[in-house]
Amino acid sequence: MSKYILPVSVFGTVFGCAVLLKTHVTGGRCPSKAIINGKTVVITGANTGIGKETARELAQRGGRIIMGCRDMEKCEAAAKEIRGKTLNPHVYACHLDLASMKSIREFAERIKQEEQRVDVLINNAGVMRCPAWKTDDGFDMQLGVNHLGHFLLTNLLLDKLKESAPSRVINLASLAHIVGKIDFEDLNWEKKKFDTKQAYCQSKLANVLFTRELAKRLQGTGVTVNAVHPGVVATELGRHTGLHQSQFSSSVLSPFFSMLVKSPELGAQPSVYLAVSKEMEGVTGMYYDVMTEKEPAPQALDEEAARRLWEVSSRLVGLEEEGQSAKSNPPAEGQSKATQADPAQTQGQSPGPAVSAVGL
Ligand SMILES: NC(=O)c1ccc[n+]([C@@H]2O[C@H](COP(=O)([O-])OP(=O)(O)OC[C@H]3O[C@@H](n4cnc5c(N)ncnc54)[C@H](OP(=O)(O)O)[C@@H]3O)[C@@H](O)[C@H]2O)c1
Repeated sequence: MSKYILPVSVFGTVFGCAVLLKTHVTGGRCPSKAIINGKTVVITGANTGIGKETARELAQRGGRIIMGCRDMEKCEAAAKEIRGKTLNPHVYACHLDLASMKSIREFAERIKQEEQRVDVLINNAGVMRCPAWKTDDGFDMQLGVNHLGHFLLTNLLLDKLKESAPSRVINLASLAHIVGKIDFEDLNWEKKKFDTKQAYCQSKLANVLFTRELAKRLQGTGVTVNAVHPGVVATELGRHTGLHQSQFSSSVLSPFFSMLVKSPELGAQPSVYLAVSKEMEGVTGMYYDVMTEKEPAPQALDEEAARRLWEVSSRLVGLEEEGQSAKSNPPAEGQSKATQADPAQTQGQSPGPAVSAVGL
């Protein structure tokens, strides 16, 4: 017997297990071959990572893609790269800073004015484990960007999504929600000591609770909403964790880690699946682990918490006041609701010069 048999078989077994593990962790490619010509997709945080790859794949499938990003230089560069790779000219860069309610409102207004429809909204942007930063409006950065910003944006685009039904909203959540807790007494870390890990987990739990409450409120509208954990993906998400900078992690942990993580291209597959597949037609209020529907953590199934989070979020982003002032300022007599919205004025109008509209 050769002395090499044992080491070779050990190596073979380890290698085989690593391949199986990686296949299990990555979850493979979206099985749907759906083409989405004529559909408009809005994706937040699309200049890098999962968002950029999602934009590329959906552009490849013929969609009209609006990339909402805070850094216009990076966004323009990513949009240009995607147009070049896919030969789809309808990929547009548009400014959106989810850490600013003013920016979110301007972005939503632009979409409402310039786009005829929104078939898919992918709330993808995210920030993980940053220091105790605040948004322009004083919210904790992770809650503000990951949850409150997307909460406001989605609500502002709801009429457009309803007009375009059947339409879909996809919220990028995370497995991290399972250790999340919503602290209703101190959502923005103003009273207790800041814990950046817990702040991320709280924001990701908020994504799942928001998904479930929104699905309830959208029953019968033809707009579906689902949350997804994309798997563990090699992106820039860990930029604030310090792991990328340390010598130990890059030399010792990195090779091991790379066996477990997937590329941004594969990381985008769950979002693509939720956005285009026929299987997802009419499916709403669910949580997906990669491309498999799973029950989320018990605290994400708490209906009272979901309702309460909706109310608190509405108040924080100023939607409640708008609802109240609309009620306290009913249409003047003789002025119908229909003429208030005045769809006739927008009907037949072109969606506007898309190219100039989105800054190309
Ligand atoms: N990667 C994973 O393993 C993993 C696992 C579970 C869940 N997720 C979720 O997947 C989503 C995408 O993450 P990723 O891994 O692709 O991370 P990423 O590479 O860091 O990309 C995040 C994107 O969000 C954008 N963003 C951050 N703050 C923003 C703001 N204030 N306004 C607008 N855009 C903002 C970033 O823009 P800049 O480039 O300008 O910063 C970037 O485009 C996140 O919601 C994340 O929580 C990822």
